[in-house]
Amino acid sequence: MRDPATIRRLYGRSKGRPLRAGQVELVERLLPQLSVPADGSLSSRTLFGDDRPLHFEIGFGAGEHLAYRADLLPDHGFIGAEPFLNGVAGALGAIRDRRLANVRLHMGDALEVLERLPDSSLRFVYLLHPDPWPKARHAKRRMVNPGPLDLIAAKLQPGGEFRLGTDDPVYCRWAMMVMSGRRDFDWLAESPTDFLTRPGGWPETRYEAKARREGREVWYFRYRRV
Ligand SMILES: C[S@@+](CC[C@H](N)C(=O)[O-])C[C@H]1O[C@@H](n2cnc3c(N)ncnc32)[C@H](O)[C@@H]1O
Repeated sequence: MRDPATIRRLYGRSKGRPLRAGQVELVERLLPQLSVPADGSLSSRTLFGDDRPLHFEIGFGAGEHLAYRADLLPDHGFIGAEPFLNGVAGALGAIRDRRLANVRLHMGDALEVLERLPDSSLRFVYLLHPDPWPKARHAKRRMVNPGPLDLIAAKLQPGGEFRLGTDDPVYCRWAMMVMSGRRDFDWLAESPTDFLTRPGGWPETRYEAKARREGREVWYFRYRRV
C-alpha cells in the first residue's frame, strides 16, 4: 500500500539541544505512561479503555496543536507521533500543564503507528507544516504522496477530516496538485478565504507564528474523506 520511496527518511533532526532536568524527568517518567504500546494492533479500546472518536497528528513538533485539540475535546482520544526528542519533551510539558488524560504519544515514525490502527478508525488526521523536502529529486519523500495518503485515507472513517497546513509555497502547490487527483478526499473550500484564513479550532503553533513573522504566507487545507 505504501509508496516505498516515501518512508522513514527524516528531513530534520531527531535530537536537538540537551533537555533540561525537568524535561528529562518527563521523558523518563511520563512518556512511558503515555506511550503507544510498542507492538500489536491498536484501537480506541487498547489505547484509552473505551470507544471514543480518535484523532491522529503526524509530526506534532512541540505538541501545541495536539495539546490544544485534546484539551478542547476531552472525550476524544488523541494519538501523536513525532521522532524529535525535544518536541516530545515539549508535548509532555503541555500534557502535564493541561492535565490531559486523553493523549498517547509515539516517539518515532507516524506511519508505523498508523499502519497498526484499524481501517476507518480515525475521525481526524492532522499534518501541519510537514517537512518540505524542497529539492525536486526528494519530492517522493514528502508526506503528501500516494503511499502515506493511501494509508491516511484507509484509516480515516468516511466523513472524517484530513487537515494539512503549510507555509511552503512549493509544498502548497504540490499538495494541491496531489490532492486534486484523489477521489477519496473532497476539498472543503468554497472560496480562497477558506484556505487563507486559519479555521476555528486550529490553533497557531510557534512554528506557524515564526513563519508569519518571517513574512511567509500560511495555507490551511481541510479535506473530507469521501
Ligand atoms: C516543520 S516541523 C512542524 C512541526 C509541527 N507540526 C508544527 O506545525 O509546529 C515537521 C515535523 O515533522 C516531523 N516528522 C518528520 N517525519 C515524520 C514522520 N515520518 N513521522 C512523524 N513525524 C515526522 C519532524 O520531526 C518535525 O518535527
